[in-house]
Amino acid sequence: MSKITAAITAVGGYVPDFVLSNKVLETMVDTNDEWITSRTGIKERRILKDKDKGTSFLAIKAAEDLLQKSGTNPAEIDMVLLATTTPDMPVAATAVYVASKIGAVNAFAYDLQAACSSFLYGMSTAAAYIQSGRYKKILVIGADKMSSIIDYTDRATCIIFGDGAGAALFEPNHEGLGLQDEILRSDGIGREYLKIDAGGSLLPASHETVDNRQHYVFQDGKTVFKYAVSNMADISDKIMQKNNLTHDDVNYLISHQANRRIIDATASRMKLDEAKVLVNIEKYGNTTSATLPLLLYDFEHLFKKGDNLIFASFGGGFTWGSIYLKWAYDKK
Ligand code: UT7
Repeated sequence: MSKITAAITAVGGYVPDFVLSNKVLETMVDTNDEWITSRTGIKERRILKDKDKGTSFLAIKAAEDLLQKSGTNPAEIDMVLLATTTPDMPVAATAVYVASKIGAVNAFAYDLQAACSSFLYGMSTAAAYIQSGRYKKILVIGADKMSSIIDYTDRATCIIFGDGAGAALFEPNHEGLGLQDEILRSDGIGREYLKIDAGGSLLPASHETVDNRQHYVFQDGKTVFKYAVSNMADISDKIMQKNNLTHDDVNYLISHQANRRIIDATASRMKLDEAKVLVNIEKYGNTTSATLPLLLYDFEHLFKKGDNLIFASFGGGFTWGSIYLKWAYDKK
């Protein structure tokens, strides 16, 4: 029997309708369109305005889009992995609710939290289960309602993040397509530089933590930027070397969308032409777990069977990594 590889066989996505532009942010905090555009590449981001809807709403929409487009029967899905940093609630895994709502009645489900690398790590987990032969259909969803944890009086963070979701279905492949290799890393040194202080077991929620705005994201942007640039560029270069890939062999870079300058630095290290570097940060900002699958959703029409894609991410923790994947289908 030929070796089983884990291929992506369908993708889906969803972003909310409400657009928060740089111009509107100018009226909320001391910032301007020129600063945001030149420092980050972001022009606008989507926000889920409905107060009674959480990350599950975004995840369900992306999953339903995938199921409908691919004609997949949800009852055949074995496992639903929800990559997210903003679960609906601290207890009761959001993935379980999402799986039930989309009709994945025979699946087991759980959340995976690794900040901006959640989806990348989820790809690795899904692939390992598929390669082992244990499961046949695994849905990996990356979804985050970042607006629920952002302080809209803090100009250092509120200009960066947006809400969104994307999904990918992993299935066995016998032609050698799908995930080829990965390098995943983490380093606890990052904990101080990108975090939410309160609401966890170390500092449970109290009136005081709320008054101190400690339930919002804090980021030391300059430090995170420094680590992101060197680690993401290094690891992407490393996976190319490990697999004897030159810049000509790589068809597309699917990079985490945190800052246009970080993406460009990674692409430059890989010596990639601009056309191979997929970018949608200008439309969505940083959607955390959703950036990678939203790139697949937006650019699926470009991919051809056999294309070599390099995925790369860097996020809080720190967590980072790179995956080399051969695309498995031509879009109908
Ligand atoms: O996705 C997870 C991983 N996250 C990342 O990879 C994000 C990494 N970091 C970044 O992308 C960048 O550091 C930021 C976009 C967050 C900030 O850009 P920067 O070029 O590093 O700016 P900075 O923080 O060094 O700030 C430069 C100046 C400061 O003013 P002074 O001290 O030079 O007078 C800031 O106070 O810009 C000021 N500033 C702003 N000005 C206008 C900070 N935020 C803003 C703002 N508008 N929104």
